[in-house]
Amino acid sequence: MDDMLVQMQGIDKTFPGVHALKGCDFDLKRGEVHALVGENGAGKSTLMKILSGIYDMDAGQILLKGQPVSIPNPHAAQKMGISMVHQELNLMNHLTAAQNIFIGREPLNFFFLDEHALNQNAAKIFEMMNLAVQPWMKVADMTVAKQQMVEIAKALSFNSEVLIFDEPSAALTDVEIKELFRIIRQLKDNGVGIIYITHRLEELFQISDRVTVLRDGAYVDTVKTEDATINQIIKMMVGRVIYESAPEVPEDRGQDIVLEVRNLSSDNVLKNVNFNLKRGEILGFAGLVGAGRTETARAIFGADPYDSGEIYINGERVNIKNPSDAVAHSVAYLSEDRKRYGLCLGLDVKKNIVITIYEKVTAFIGWVREKFVASIASKIVEQLSIRTPSLDQKVKNLSGGNQQKLVIGKWLAKDADIMIFDEPTRGIDVGAKQEIYSLLNDLAAQGKSIIMISSELPEILRMSHRVVVMCEGRVTGELDYTEANQESIMQLATQRNGGNSVPVNA
Ligand SMILES: Nc1ncnc2c1ncn2[C@@H]1O[C@H](COP(=O)(O)OP(=O)(O)OP(=O)(O)O)[C@@H](O)[C@H]1O
Ligand SMILES: [Mg+2]
Repeated sequence: MDDMLVQMQGIDKTFPGVHALKGCDFDLKRGEVHALVGENGAGKSTLMKILSGIYDMDAGQILLKGQPVSIPNPHAAQKMGISMVHQELNLMNHLTAAQNIFIGREPLNFFFLDEHALNQNAAKIFEMMNLAVQPWMKVADMTVAKQQMVEIAKALSFNSEVLIFDEPSAALTDVEIKELFRIIRQLKDNGVGIIYITHRLEELFQISDRVTVLRDGAYVDTVKTEDATINQIIKMMVGRVIYESAPEVPEDRGQDIVLEVRNLSSDNVLKNVNFNLKRGEILGFAGLVGAGRTETARAIFGADPYDSGEIYINGERVNIKNPSDAVAHSVAYLSEDRKRYGLCLGLDVKKNIVITIYEKVTAFIGWVREKFVASIASKIVEQLSIRTPSLDQKVKNLSGGNQQKLVIGKWLAKDADIMIFDEPTRGIDVGAKQEIYSLLNDLAAQGKSIIMISSELPEILRMSHRVVVMCEGRVTGELDYTEANQESIMQLATQRNGGNSVPVNA
């Protein structure tokens, strides 16, 4: 028992309308990576928020190195050597990376903040992490992936014995995930105990020693990773076997071009981006972080300005200056960053769903047609199986994956013709992923045109009729589904400086 760091026994927790944890057990040893998995809303984050002092438990007990402890707040948890990297980014956007890491613990020079020491301390951690971030960079100016790495740096800065990662990889791409795993292995060798929550089940086999499964707030089982298979784990998660259906051979989608982008360039990111999108097509966008995929989407959607280039919708040149122009042209953009652009966390589920169709749900003097709103919202909630006690639940109280489904729901309500999905299945569990895939297929079959940006190659390969690959702000190639595979995409995704922009073969 000597190497036992944490034991959680019979943990129970109820929120208004939700029995989130039903007598859960969990333990963690020194020097191990213990993965925690389960469907969206299963209770993973709640269990770990109890361990890190964010929530009180209603019943149960926690032992730390064999001693019963109470963990009244996150500060107490940190003092006991427990820190957590949250699923939702918790950084202050207006502060720098270094300020975020050491907030409340800033080094002082007499009574004054020692800015130099602050930046140096942060730089040391970044160096250890092989992370290309300047300490004085504002968090607001970073990509989601970089922000996530800063969040991890913050947790590392406490030198904790127990480190909880709540879906750290959801916002990262392969390069950063590799780096993260290297850091985790190093911590493990130093005797740190690591709790790792993920929906990317293949990661379990790369990094974890044991896996615990929760289902509907209840403890299911704990297994040694080396003795388990993905299918067993999925079965424990969902209580049934999910068959990954083979990718459907796309039907001929016709040649109707609904969106054409010509020579799109922006200050320092996009360089002559050319591509087109056909009616009823799912066009995958592959590439590494920083390739310019999100920037392309945001430029089309009018969320960011571009310097030169032309955009045509149904053959007509359009001048989209802001997102409302885009919406007026029936273009929807589902953001990769639900907290920043996607949802109003303080509002309830139904208001978030109808937010894009406000004029439709208000009567002529601005009254909201409540019944109409409720009927639209409940249809979407059902269609996407969003787990919420009611339509009046505040969105911030939904689990991470259910929030992501809601972002999709919001744009479904809008019923746009051109839909850009940026990392649509990020943080979504295996079962729900399949549902979203069939939803995208249905939308395409109905004649909607879809751009799907994804960092998960299997997802790109499985879903796309055609794949556009970007690298460093350029389109480095275009593959149809017969040519696209792991190798052909990776080759184009790493084709730095090379590759002229592919001409549009319209
Ligand atoms: N602060 C809160 N208020 C009310 N309900 C909550 C709160 N936090 C979580 N819940 C509910 O508790 C349940 C468990 O949520 P939790 O966030 O622990 O799920 P999860 O397993 O982390 O899911 P995901 O994979 O989607 O992140 C959900 O039904 C969620 O809606
Ligand atoms: Mg969670």
